Amino acid sequence: MGSTLIKGGTVVNADAAIRADVLVRDGLVVALGLGDDWSADEVVDATGKLVLPGGIDVHTHLEYPIDGFTTRTADDFHSGTIAAAHGGTTTVIDFVKKEPDKSLFDSYMRRRDVAAGKAVVDFGLHAIVPPRDQQENVLDDLRRLAGEGASSWKFFMAYPGTQMVDDGQLLEGLELAVEYGVLPMVHAENGHMVARETRLLIESGRTAENYHATAHGHESEAEAVHRAIVLADSVGSPVYVVHVSSAAAAAEIGQARSRGSLVWGETCPQYLAVAYEDYAELGEKAAAYICSPPIRERGNQEGLWQALTTGALSTVATDHAGFCLEQPNDLPPQKLRSPGYFPKVPNGVPGVEDRLMVVWETGVKTGRIDMCRFVDLMATRPAKLFGLFPHKGLVAVGADADLLVWDTAADHVITTAGSHMRTDYNLYDGMRVTGRPVHVFSRGHHLVNDGAFDGKPGRGSFLTRGKPHLF
Ligand code: URP
Ligand code: ZN
Ligand code: ZN
Repeated sequence: MGSTLIKGGTVVNADAAIRADVLVRDGLVVALGLGDDWSADEVVDATGKLVLPGGIDVHTHLEYPIDGFTTRTADDFHSGTIAAAHGGTTTVIDFVKKEPDKSLFDSYMRRRDVAAGKAVVDFGLHAIVPPRDQQENVLDDLRRLAGEGASSWKFFMAYPGTQMVDDGQLLEGLELAVEYGVLPMVHAENGHMVARETRLLIESGRTAENYHATAHGHESEAEAVHRAIVLADSVGSPVYVVHVSSAAAAAEIGQARSRGSLVWGETCPQYLAVAYEDYAELGEKAAAYICSPPIRERGNQEGLWQALTTGALSTVATDHAGFCLEQPNDLPPQKLRSPGYFPKVPNGVPGVEDRLMVVWETGVKTGRIDMCRFVDLMATRPAKLFGLFPHKGLVAVGADADLLVWDTAADHVITTAGSHMRTDYNLYDGMRVTGRPVHVFSRGHHLVNDGAFDGKPGRGSFLTRGKPHLF
């Protein structure tokens, strides 16, 4: 492998921004400083630009089966990671769900092999813990998986009858996570409250797409977040709350953190930059916006931003789970499989390509967060929590050369046609952003060069992750 010199830029880490050149050799950063006499096979001029660690998206669902394996998300590990790379994300962590005819362990190994043949950026996999009636001995598999780099396990507090684990099973899982140094993650919505609201809405004929948001109320999210924290505290476990959408739920996390609980919250660009009002009147097309928890009222957004600035929320990931509106021939039924009936709409929205640009535009450019906080939310904290630090998540000598040259002056309009995700719509279609990655390096390889992509399927490596850095 060759060497690259990124010259003239300002290196931004979570703790500081400094003027420095970056010398890369054999996939690693080997020197950082003002290297007037440094030379390399390739020199990239970063004058007037920023050099950031590659984005780490710890929440994606690529070629991900849902609803009893009756359908799947549109992007596979190839198209999804190409899109990630174009948007400046050089690591994704996806999920493994137990397959009906396989153990969780075997499902994990199979999915790891599938992803390894397709991914163009490095990837990790969280294990989703099924309820015990789907696999009696799942705790044995979790023990084995902890030794295979699955240092994060996800528990669903929603979807009773399919994925939801009860509080007893959640407690057992949290205890085991403490023993093995694993970070438990929770999808925190009270599944029973959502199921009841859904039933009442169906009984009263309110099944149009926009009622999905009514069914998934703020209270059901805040209640589950509160309960997850209490349960985790009771066994001395850390807990990571995925896709926090409600300001009330974020406030629960903030209060618990100030009491000393080991809890971290993630939110997503769709909750920060899109609102219920954007889709409430779209009729069937509102299916494009359906995800759980839902995209909430515009008035909710400011509370999430405040939580990102105070530290109540710690990361921004995408929960990228895109489905198409128009039905492609090669995919199982997508968003419009049950027009007018929200309970059957596949849940999930795309965004893996948009995350950095949208948060830069709506967070850094508006002055809500500074660029160091941006790096912390997008790369450093995710790397720490998910066992990738200090190899990833920072620009430093010895770290992987997962690097972005970020042009703060580059004007760009996000469009569906200009995106690399497979979905036929984009939540941010028409959004003008200033600031985007013009060069993307993955372990030193120049993956995106001013929009031109160069990377073979399978070049991304599976990441055997270590224990979380909690402090
Ligand atoms: O609606 C969503 N978020 N779909 C993806 C699966 C999940 O629950 O995270
Ligand atoms: Zn979820
Ligand atoms: Zn998800």
